[in-house]
Amino acid sequence: MNDKFTRIGFILAVAGSAVGLGNAWKFPTLVGQNGGSAFILLYLLLTFLVSFVIFIGEITIGRLGESDPVDSYRRLAPSNKELWSKAGFLMITALLIYSFYSVVMGWILKYTATSIFSLPQNLDDSGAMFNALISNSPLVAIICFTIMSLVCFLIVSKGIKNGIERLNIWMMPSLFILLVLMVLYSASFDGFAQSAKFLLLPDFSALNSQSVLDALGLAFFTLSLGVTTILTYAASLPDRTNILTSSINIVLINVMIGVMMGLVVFTFIFEFNGDPAQSGPGLIFVSLAVLFSKLGFIGHILAFAFFLTLLFAAITSAISMIEPAVYYLVKSRAFSRAKACVAVFVFTYVLGIACILGYYGATSEYFVIAGQPFFDALDYLTSKILMPLGGLIIVIFVGYVIKKDGVYALLSPYMGDFGFKIWYFVLLRVVSPLAIFVIALRELGIVNFG
Ligand code: TRP
Repeated sequence: MNDKFTRIGFILAVAGSAVGLGNAWKFPTLVGQNGGSAFILLYLLLTFLVSFVIFIGEITIGRLGESDPVDSYRRLAPSNKELWSKAGFLMITALLIYSFYSVVMGWILKYTATSIFSLPQNLDDSGAMFNALISNSPLVAIICFTIMSLVCFLIVSKGIKNGIERLNIWMMPSLFILLVLMVLYSASFDGFAQSAKFLLLPDFSALNSQSVLDALGLAFFTLSLGVTTILTYAASLPDRTNILTSSINIVLINVMIGVMMGLVVFTFIFEFNGDPAQSGPGLIFVSLAVLFSKLGFIGHILAFAFFLTLLFAAITSAISMIEPAVYYLVKSRAFSRAKACVAVFVFTYVLGIACILGYYGATSEYFVIAGQPFFDALDYLTSKILMPLGGLIIVIFVGYVIKKDGVYALLSPYMGDFGFKIWYFVLLRVVSPLAIFVIALRELGIVNFG
């Protein structure tokens, strides 16, 4: 069966994986706090020097291995095949991310469904509403999480072309159109100019060593690196795809959507004197929901459009987290796709429920790991430890272990000989591993850069 992406399908699917909740609540906040477009330039620079290099490394493994993560590593390793194949099990990181990501998708579903009819009128109500959802009565959270999980697994069960590609081909453009409409509408408010200034006016004096590390961490997270997602999608890449231009397009789409989301979010924050320094759930679920309510009827429409956009962004990312494991079970373990989906569903469902119960007041004490709620512990484990580890393994594997000839034959047609040498000998072998090492030390709190 030839279940491969088309070229545009591949770009949209990978962009769909990259564009996610990170663009809505990590990107805008960091940009705003670190000197606006000065930070965007820094982010782009680091993206091209580090993340992009790993990204292409991951595509290389997928494209040359043409199999699931475990088997791709096994096929490409010149020796110690069994040992290297274990690196493919980093696909479990993606499942761990999915477990808490899908809980957030449940919250978004709840907000999408109710924002049309009711929005909290003030910050206290809004905080109480959010708390009720996550810590007082988790039944709604569990129902919404279950619905979103079923939707994601249903899509993945239909395979690459009929499931993942088909979904991304309509969902990504819809997300984009919704976002364009919201940006245009925001532009009619006074807060828009302030928002644009906050995000775009470069202030290089706001950059410090901390910003560099923030930009690196962000560049890593928003490109979905190090968890075999990109590898798995690349294994279904159509022949003769220009890997370089496709990757550049994906990076640019990702940044553009982050900027657009930021423009919308901060327009309303400034318009109604919200606090631009917040991030994460406080920003989206608590503040923004109140601000939209101040706009009356149109605010309800806007809130609905906003949460729907987030939901689309999250779904296209979530399915890319489960596909690697499903693909592995199908390809290497001879499961049918349906059975593989059921197996992975059960695994992530149990963890997701543990995340929900870890926040629920009555059960929270039973779902604690190392002093943190289950949800936070999974987030910490994946983004601070497993994702950088995955990135490091990729650069070492492509830079030092697999035969250079194959990598050269794959990439030099698109990069030229000189471009390849810079990419391979400088960026892949030296700059990227060092950069990951530094992020990891800092993220783990082993070193602190002022
Ligand atoms: N890039 C996604 C976002 O910005 C999140 C993400 C992190 C991800 N790691 C991933 C998505 C791995 C898919 C696979 O929200």
